Amino acid sequence: MRPSPVPPAPVVIRQERAGDADEIGAVVAAAFSLAEHSAPPTRPGGPPGEVDLLVALRADTGWLPGLSLIACADGQVVGHVVCTRAHVDGVRALGLGPLSVRPNRQGEGIGGALVRAVLDQAAEAGESLVALLGDPAYYGRFGFVPARQVGVESPDPAWGDFFQARSLGSGDTPTGRFDYAAPFSSV
Ligand SMILES: CC(C)(COP(=O)(O)OP(=O)(O)OC[C@H]1O[C@@H](n2cnc3c(N)ncnc32)[C@H](O)[C@@H]1OP(=O)(O)O)[C@@H](O)C(=O)NCCC(=O)NCCS
Repeated sequence: MRPSPVPPAPVVIRQERAGDADEIGAVVAAAFSLAEHSAPPTRPGGPPGEVDLLVALRADTGWLPGLSLIACADGQVVGHVVCTRAHVDGVRALGLGPLSVRPNRQGEGIGGALVRAVLDQAAEAGESLVALLGDPAYYGRFGFVPARQVGVESPDPAWGDFFQARSLGSGDTPTGRFDYAAPFSSV
C-alpha cells in the first residue's frame, strides 16, 4: 500500500500573546529577507528593518494588542499581521503592516486570511479607515484602493498608488494627511 500524503496542519488565527514575539520576529525576518521590497536593516548585518520596526511598535503608544494577529499551524507561528494607531488629519485611523507569511507556507491563503481577520477585528472595534503601503495587485482583492481616491494623502508622495486605503464602514471616513505611528518614521 502506498503511504498517503500527510495533510498540512490546519491554520488557526489568534491574537498575539506574551511569549510570541521572538517567533513572530523570526517569521518577519524570513518573509522580508526574501521579499521584493523590504526596509534596510537598522544595524549592519541585522535583519530587514521590518523586524526592528515591529519591536519599536510594540513599545509605542500606537500599539493595539487586539490587532496583532498570528497564524499558527501545529503550534508554530506561520504568519503575522498588525494594525497600529495612525491618524488622518488628527482623526484616529489604522496603519496595516508589516504582514508576513513564513516563506515555505506562502501561496496557501494564509496572508489573505490574516488580512481579512484583522480587518474584521478592526471593524468590530469601530475603526473607520485602514491604510497601508503595498502592492495594489495584492491588496486590491481586500477592497484597498489608492488612498488619494478616497481623499487620504500619503505620508510620502513618492509612494503613489502603492499607498492604499480602505474604509471599514464605521462613521465618516476621515480625509487629509495620513500619519503612521511614530516608529514608522525611522524605517
Ligand atoms: C505578501 C504575503 C504576505 C502574501 O502571503 P500569502 O500567504 O502568500 O498570500 P495568499 O496565499 O493569501 O495569496 C497568494 C496570492 O497573492 C499573490 N501575491 C503574493 N504576494 C504578492 C505581491 N507582492 N504582489 C502581488 N501579488 C502577490 C500571489 O501571487 C497569489 O496570487 P493568486 O491568489 O492569484 O494565486 C507573503 O508573500 C509575504 O510574507 N511576503 C513577504 C513579505 C511582504 O512582502 N509583505 C507584504 C508587504 S506589503
